[in-house]
Amino acid sequence: MPRADLLFHSAAQVVTCAGASPRRGDALGDIGVILDGAVAVSDGHIVAVGPSAELRAAYPAHEAIDATGRVLCPGFVDCHTHLIFAGARAAEWEQKLRGVPYLDILAAGGGILSTVRATRAATALHLLADGRARLDAMLGLGTTTVEIKTGYGLSLESELSHLAVIAALAQSHACTLLPTLLAAHAVPPEFAGDANGYVQMVTQALIPAAAAWYATSSIAAQHGALFCDVFCETGAFDVAQSRAVLAAGRSQGMTPKLHVDQFHTLGGAALALEMGAISADHLDVTPADERAQLAASNTVAVLLPAVNFHMGATQYADAQAWIAAGGAVALATDFNPGSAPCFSLPFVMALACRHYGMTPAQALNACTINAAAALGIAGRVGSLDVGKEADLLMLDLADYRLLPYWLGINPVAMVVKHGRIVA
Ligand code: NIG
Ligand code: FE
Repeated sequence: MPRADLLFHSAAQVVTCAGASPRRGDALGDIGVILDGAVAVSDGHIVAVGPSAELRAAYPAHEAIDATGRVLCPGFVDCHTHLIFAGARAAEWEQKLRGVPYLDILAAGGGILSTVRATRAATALHLLADGRARLDAMLGLGTTTVEIKTGYGLSLESELSHLAVIAALAQSHACTLLPTLLAAHAVPPEFAGDANGYVQMVTQALIPAAAAWYATSSIAAQHGALFCDVFCETGAFDVAQSRAVLAAGRSQGMTPKLHVDQFHTLGGAALALEMGAISADHLDVTPADERAQLAASNTVAVLLPAVNFHMGATQYADAQAWIAAGGAVALATDFNPGSAPCFSLPFVMALACRHYGMTPAQALNACTINAAAALGIAGRVGSLDVGKEADLLMLDLADYRLLPYWLGINPVAMVVKHGRIVA
């Protein structure tokens, strides 16, 4: 008789988000609900998903957990965060509340550059402690996998040291962490007015050094390639500079990702297509022709509604157009101290329902299986499928649609990571 280490049974709903590839078009609204459902876990992996009666008979489990009146769903995947930074930007936020534009604050040496100053001044120990506390908060809100970008160091030494902080967190935290090198986040003060000079340093020195570090790091053994990202935007990096950075990264085995079309249409979505990026993120002002091409590709379209919300924007990305075009749409927090101080994927889902007109089912798929695809790990996590890592949540809700419905509470009653109860 097969055995399970853990058997969750009698759940009002088991929401599977099943599959190993991103859901597109109509299928985005398909989440696979099993009423009175159960999930069996063994050796950190899911060994069965189905009706409670069947699984209870088949698995006289070592430990049975009664999920009566509750929802079981996959752990959430936050596929876009800037989690390593020091300080906050409350004063600049007040400026923004009074109407000063984000890019004006950056152009005046604030914004991202304020956080660069604070982060450079912080010790690795401080960044590690803050990072751990933030990850604990995210885990408690149901996030079991987190992509983390550098980008507040902007020098060879500091970017490498922030990658090392991410690797140290990955060793010691329950969340699965995937690192991204975002050296091209802004032009640092040492290169003020000389973006090309900075790009040259990044492509010729920083990227090769990061690749060499990654090859021998503990985190490379757990995951595939390091991601390489760029902020393709007016006042940051143009398309040619972004291409140079991503091409240098790719030549060192890194997988391209991009911040594009947040404020200005520069042709960043077309660049994502050209580079075969694993994801293109923001996409607030992407023109229809570039959207159609990118939506038809394998690049995941990561939408970040907490940014628009925090900025007090009236315009949001046209999520319906991305879905209608067949795009693989994912959602993420973009957690950072400037544009999105948001820890919570349930809150992001709530925003997506209200501002994108997404259904709860679409939003949930976008934060699980599709977000996993944006990190190239949809075969490992992001759904309740036999063989996948047992990352699952028990929600104190009887209907998954209430997850983005209730605002301001945390409905996550239990978090299971790799088969272990961690929160
Ligand atoms: O994704 N847009 C660029 N980078 C971040 C914001 C970083 C910051 O303001 O500190 C973003 O929105
Ligand atoms: Fe971002």
